[in-house]
Amino acid sequence: MERTLVLLKPDALQRAIAMELLARFERRGLRFVGLKLVQIEESLARRHYAEHEGKFFFDGLVRHLTSGPVVAAVLEGPEAIQVVRALVGATRPHEAAAGTIRGDYALAGLRNLIHASDGPDTARDEIALHFDANELVDYARGLDAWIVEDAAE
Ligand code: PPS
Repeated sequence: MERTLVLLKPDALQRAIAMELLARFERRGLRFVGLKLVQIEESLARRHYAEHEGKFFFDGLVRHLTSGPVVAAVLEGPEAIQVVRALVGATRPHEAAAGTIRGDYALAGLRNLIHASDGPDTARDEIALHFDANELVDYARGLDAWIVEDAAE
């Protein structure tokens, strides 16, 4: 089992499609183990995007992430990081394949609706940055055995 962080950025909330986007992850079979609505402060946004500090778009990224409420989610499942990245699609919406979230809901520029962790180390660090341990819930679903043949408890 793998865990990954997803942020539905302010454009998703302002366009009133946040729940629709979350449903895509759930329908694929992934399990929510953390979920909350937050207003991200500048200091947290700067830490979240720390690897991009110094790039010309850094300030804009921070401004956008703090410009309105965000839905933060931790999703769990086999190969969850890769599965979520594939569901989300290419960073630049005009390059995103139809059928991906960005390919179906986003158009151009960098209003790309979602941030998703890009690897195991990033996922671990980003989950710890946005969630306290007691905000994450371990549980099993009756349907898990119908989604993954050797579903863990
Ligand atoms: S990079 O430069 O290759 O590391 O960037 P990339 O991994 O493609 O994207 C990292 C995050 O930066 C956002 N991004 C931008 N925002 C605004 N303007 C420009 N030009 C730009 N280029 C990249 C991109 O959306 C990623 O943010 P998240 O929130 O993870 O999607």
